[in-house]
Parts: sequence; C-alpha cells; structure tokens
Amino acid sequence: MCAKCDNLSLRNQMGLLHNTVTLFLLICGVSLTVFLCFIFDSTTFPLPKLQKPLPVAHNGLFPTTMQLLDLPHFQYIINNDVCMTDIAIFAVLIITSHAGDIEARSAMRRAYPEDKLKHLGIRRIFLLAVSNPKDDVRYNSVTQNALEDENHRYSDLVQGNFREAYRNLTYKHMMGLDWVTKYCQQAQYVIKMDDDIVVDFYRLIHIMNLIVQDRRPLLMGYLLQGTRPVREPANKWFVTQSEFPGSMYPPFLSGWLYITTPKDARALLEVSKTVHYFWIDDTYVTGLLAQVAGISHQDIHQYFTLHSEYLECCIQDKIHLCDYIVGPNGGDPVLLLRFQRHAASCQERKCPQRSPDRALNRTCVAPKKFSAPSQGHGEVKPVPLF
Ligand SMILES: *[C@@H]1O[C@H](CO)[C@@H](O)[C@H](O)[C@H]1NC(C)=O
Ligand SMILES: *[C@@H]1O[C@H](CO)[C@@H](O)[C@H](O)[C@H]1NC(C)=O
Repeated sequence: MCAKCDNLSLRNQMGLLHNTVTLFLLICGVSLTVFLCFIFDSTTFPLPKLQKPLPVAHNGLFPTTMQLLDLPHFQYIINNDVCMTDIAIFAVLIITSHAGDIEARSAMRRAYPEDKLKHLGIRRIFLLAVSNPKDDVRYNSVTQNALEDENHRYSDLVQGNFREAYRNLTYKHMMGLDWVTKYCQQAQYVIKMDDDIVVDFYRLIHIMNLIVQDRRPLLMGYLLQGTRPVREPANKWFVTQSEFPGSMYPPFLSGWLYITTPKDARALLEVSKTVHYFWIDDTYVTGLLAQVAGISHQDIHQYFTLHSEYLECCIQDKIHLCDYIVGPNGGDPVLLLRFQRHAASCQERKCPQRSPDRALNRTCVAPKKFSAPSQGHGEVKPVPLF
C-alpha cells in the first residue's frame, strides 16, 4: 500500500495533485498506525489465532481447552507435526528460543540443517512465546508475521500464547514437555536445550548409546548439587522467600542441555499439577518436579565446559577430538557452526583424544570468560582458565 505513497509523492514533487496526495498519505499513515498498534499493543495480548493455517497435518495441533501450569487459557499459536513419520525417531530436540532471536535459530539451522538431523534420527522444534517488541529491546522487533514467515519456510516453530519473559521460562520449558507428550511420544529420547548452546550431536548420540539404560527413568545432563537461591535483592537473579522458601535447591540438571524420554516428560508434567510455579525453569523441572516424580539424575558434566574459549581452542586444533561436547556459545551464534564443522570432520577422520597432559584446561590460553550453567545460579564460581 505504501509503495503507492511513494509513487504519489513523486507526483507531489512535480506539484501535481497536491491535495489528493496529502489525503492519501494521511490515509496511509492512519492505516499504518492502526496496523502497528494492532501488532505492538500489549492489550491485544494474547494474540488471536492466526488466520493463515500453517501446515496442519491433523486436527489436533491447536487444541483450545488446555491448561499449562497455572495458565488456564494456554494455546499453541504456531505448531508443527515434525514427528509424523513412519521412520523410528531416535531423539526429538526441543530448543527454548526467544521469539526475537532469529539469529540463534538460523545459526542452529545452518549448523544442523533439517536433513542432516533427520539422517541422525533427530527431529527439531524451537519453543517460542509471544514477543512484545516494546519489552524486548534486546532484539530487533520481530513481528508475528515475521515468525509466521519463518515457520512457513522451516516448519519447526512451536509458539505458546504467553509472553516472552525470563520469569516465564518455566512455562516455555513445560510447554516443550507437553508438546513432546502430545506430538512426539514415539521418539526414543528427548533432548532439551537452549538456543545459545554449542553441541556436537555426533558424539552426544554416541554417549547416549553408551550410557543410557533403557528401562529406568532418565534425566541425564550437567548435575548441579548444593546450590542455593540468590538472596541479594540487588542481584538480577534474586529469588524471594515466597518464590522459593528453602535454603537449598534439590539437585537439578542445567537447562543448557539435558536428555530425557517422552515417558519421563509425561511424569514430570503430571506432578507439575502439585508443585507451585517457580521461574527458574531448570531448577523447577529437573529439580523440584524430578524429586516429586522420583526420577534420579545421571551426571555427564565431564562432557560440558562452562567456557566458550575451550571450544575455540578445540576448533583451532585440527588433530584432536574436543575434550567437550557441550558448552556456551559465549554470545557468538556462529561458534556452533564452526564447532559443528570441526566435529563433523573429526567424526570422519576418527580424531584421537587429547592426552591427559595436553588437556584443554591446561593448554588452552585465552582471556577468561565464564557462563553459569543455570539461570539464577548463585553458587558456581568462575574457575581460572590457566
Ligand atoms: C508471563 O506470561 C503471562 C501470560 O501471557 C503474562 O500475563 C505475564 O505478564 C508474563 N510475565 C512476565 C513477567 O512478563
Ligand atoms: C581438566 O580436564 C580433565 C579431563 O579433560 C580432568 O580430568 C581434570 O580434572 C581437569 N582439571 C581441572 C583443573 O579442572
């Protein structure tokens, strides 16, 4: 519509039809404002169901009477049937991602395109909520239309009708488990991860095959024990007594990446009806809920690093396997792609492991950077890099 405005303003320059142009521009302006208001205005929240029906494989993708924790009118706004297939699914990857963080999702898609994942027996979805560009200044404002276009292209988004917020991450995490139990029960495993995590899926699968034992409940990842809520009000991760009354969290797995099964996802979902909402999502799901559900943890922290620099050092070393298979991207989404290339090449060449005296934590020289493996984590101390 406003392409026409441009045309008309050309004519305007020629001094023709001045009044018509003014009127037209006015109409353009008003419609644009109304349109933008519709998109940005928080009072229109939750968003109405989208007009454009996205690839709906069967009728059940948009159930209307659902409850998610204490959200009584939970709905999926975008959904995809990525698990519908005749072929056995080894794992379904559910990735929490901020609606506005298109860059992280495209880095993930570039590093592990859908067909490459399928080849590994993996299906993938990104878990989103509704972004309000006014609140989410960190990201270039992403409109709902842009998300629909993204989904049209990749068919890998799952969006709930609650708002993007740190304190809503537990909803997002539980939405992922709900989604798995509804739409991907046939997967053997569930890999939950964040979108800023770097991972070598080739070796992760290998480790899963080695360590996982099929019959007992499964929660496997970076185990955090003896951690305490942050009680300093000035801290960004401050937790009030009413949010969490205890002095210590139960053992839990870092939400960076952990592995479970659809069956255990269902068990966690089931007990969530009895456990009060707590906004630190990994503590809530893999700690509080797991405790009530009686699911114990398998610790594989030796494969995790808290330092993206170690991953950089691995990429530069063209000979050896990396000491780690999971780590933070240190704010650089492209690190995942570079790490994946290294991993794929090592997979092909059967790289040897580094000898213990050449361990990365002794030889990798880089400026110190550190990421805590959980939101609101108060206890992990940075370790010196060298
Ligand atoms: C979380 O989502 C709910 C439901 O959309 C919304 O009412 C609430 O304001 C959100 N929380 C925050 C902290 O934004
Ligand atoms: C360094 O890493 C090796 C394994 O790669 C581990 O056995 C050792 O405990 C680590 N040392 C330190 C100081 O973290």
